[in-house]
Amino acid sequence: MGYTTMHDMHEKLIAPSILAGDFARLGAEAARMERCGADWLHLDVMDGVFVPNLTFGPPVIAALRPHTSLFFDVHLMIQRPERYLDEFLAAGADGLTLHREACDEAGLRQTLRKIRAAGKRAALSVKPGTPGEALFPWLEELDMVLVMTVEPGFGGQAFLEGMLPKIGALRTEIARRAPGIRIQVDGGISAETIALAGLAGADCFVAGSAVFRAEDPAEAIRRLRNEADRSPWEAPETESPPPKTG
Ligand code: DX5
Ligand code: ZN
Repeated sequence: MGYTTMHDMHEKLIAPSILAGDFARLGAEAARMERCGADWLHLDVMDGVFVPNLTFGPPVIAALRPHTSLFFDVHLMIQRPERYLDEFLAAGADGLTLHREACDEAGLRQTLRKIRAAGKRAALSVKPGTPGEALFPWLEELDMVLVMTVEPGFGGQAFLEGMLPKIGALRTEIARRAPGIRIQVDGGISAETIALAGLAGADCFVAGSAVFRAEDPAEAIRRLRNEADRSPWEAPETESPPPKTG
């Protein structure tokens, strides 16, 4: 699906995280998400070092590639991701998200440039404890920023409302300097929290439990998209008119 053109810059994207899927049937889960109307498929790579959990790497992503034509949004929660960059690109990733905390400055610049030179989308993320300003110097090198709304490592955690000002600050800076850049949020996204993130300025939403644990995932994705569509530029409908003054 489109990404940073002027035409679609405010289109909201829903990216189900396969971390919440059935790991014994990952290919079927990927294909199911496409049938359910997902915009992207979010793939969480964890190394047991950057985060206290392990998932999968390039061979699993390559094995999934024939099962769906969805955009593969690969979230690298690994220390020094440049070590495996070529493998992730070859595996069929469409977008790669690195963590600011996982890379040194020189390595990061080179890696972001390499991702874009390969025709893929480059994104940079911050954990809850890292300020959004840590991403400001990198905006020119990026197609997307990811604001973690939980501590990375596990699905099913509660959305951290304290991240909303960080999303807002990034939205303001991005509007000023690079309006095509998307803002993704990841962690605790549900039909309730997605509107908060959308109002703060996010336009790409990762959702694990909210989609995979739903009885009807297609309906869950539709509902998330509707709720997300309360963009900062459209005031949400109010039940009663605002009080008159004067
Ligand atoms: C957590 C991962 C998330 C996770 C989100 O470290 O990055 O993508 O799958 O899961 P939920 O939506 O259940 O919080
Ligand atoms: Zn993720």
